Amino acid sequence: MADFHHFDPTPCHFPIPGAPVLPAWRGADLHWSPAGESELLDGPGVRHYSRGRYALHAALEASGVGQGAVLLAPAYHCLTMVDPALALGAGFRCYGTDEHLVPDLAQVRALLDAADGAVKAVLVPHYFGIEQPPAVMAQLLALCRSHGATLIEDCSHAWQVAARRVRAGVADGVLLVGSPYKFFACEDGGILWGPPARLAGLAPRALPWRDELRGLRDAWVRNRAAHRAPVAVYGAAKAMTGKATAVGGDATGGGRGVHSVERRQRPSAQYRPELEGVGGLRLSRWIMRRTDVEQVAQARRQHYRQWLQAVQHLAAARAPHPTLADDCAPYMFPLLLADPEPQFYALKRAGVPVWRWDNMALSDCPVGARYRLSLLHLPCHQGLSAEQMTWLTSTVARVLS
Ligand SMILES: Cc1ncc(COP(=O)(O)O)c(C=O)c1O
Repeated sequence: MADFHHFDPTPCHFPIPGAPVLPAWRGADLHWSPAGESELLDGPGVRHYSRGRYALHAALEASGVGQGAVLLAPAYHCLTMVDPALALGAGFRCYGTDEHLVPDLAQVRALLDAADGAVKAVLVPHYFGIEQPPAVMAQLLALCRSHGATLIEDCSHAWQVAARRVRAGVADGVLLVGSPYKFFACEDGGILWGPPARLAGLAPRALPWRDELRGLRDAWVRNRAAHRAPVAVYGAAKAMTGKATAVGGDATGGGRGVHSVERRQRPSAQYRPELEGVGGLRLSRWIMRRTDVEQVAQARRQHYRQWLQAVQHLAAARAPHPTLADDCAPYMFPLLLADPEPQFYALKRAGVPVWRWDNMALSDCPVGARYRLSLLHLPCHQGLSAEQMTWLTSTVARVLS
């Protein structure tokens, strides 16, 4: 049983965002012959699912997480990071992090010691695509090994961190999970990587072909919506005139969201148990194989730097990661608001595509508590046009000035 913060935005009637949060497929971006990444997509150390959450479910199961066992998860998390543990009938405890979301090693150690062998897995995300410090990861692995737990590196935001690990050979005691649809322009995807012997019993069932057709239709619809020109301008016009309202709302006014706390021991509504043990779309793998990963990474870095420039002089918000390693492929641009209550609403009403982890388990980590409402995730993916990026960055700078 755990207590979760819950935020219901329904009364806000926020307008439809003016640009897509995730990349959509564009035929022109794809190579006709496979462009690489085959070690990451095929072989005995790889298993495909439809989302990262189901890959994580498989990783937890392979780590012995079940009734009576415990997962250690970071205090700053989204629900799909802890849902799989609840689905397995296990519990979870949260460890704290510093302001850069680096795990507090002393807390992890204390939780492992106190659990007396019940902790079977420790989940550590590379948030926003930014790799956790290698020295911290090495110490976490040593702690996990000495306490009989598996270190699960959550690469859902960090395709390139997963790529480096897989190419080097996944270490003993480690499993990796990924969420390719956040990086590639595909409709679904969740990947589990590990030493082949640990994955031996896992054989995800293939999806029926009618699901592939549904995936193709969804890709087509999403692609058209994402590139309907000029989407960003449409969003900007809505925000300025308040005329083009969506989902029955008012772009300039509207209600406030409702905050509550809910107690439950079952996974959230975002988790579908019937998708456990089921493979992802072949179409998604086809797209992954034909994508030039370096080109994607470069576009993301360029957009991230454009965001940095746009917010560098703002007093009301700051970038918690103001530099980017040359080999980093960022997932989103994190922006920390000084005063989230008015700022979040103002940005949403301006049509800015904002993600925020407002639903998460209660913990005593002050960073998790603060970031829940004040840390925004803003898109910087390769599918954004120059026009969309200009609109996004200038709208955010204007709203927060
Ligand atoms: C850090 C992290 N881990 C895991 C997940 C779950 O991934 P998926 O959406 O593919 O189930 C998410 C989802 O947003 C995430 O942000």
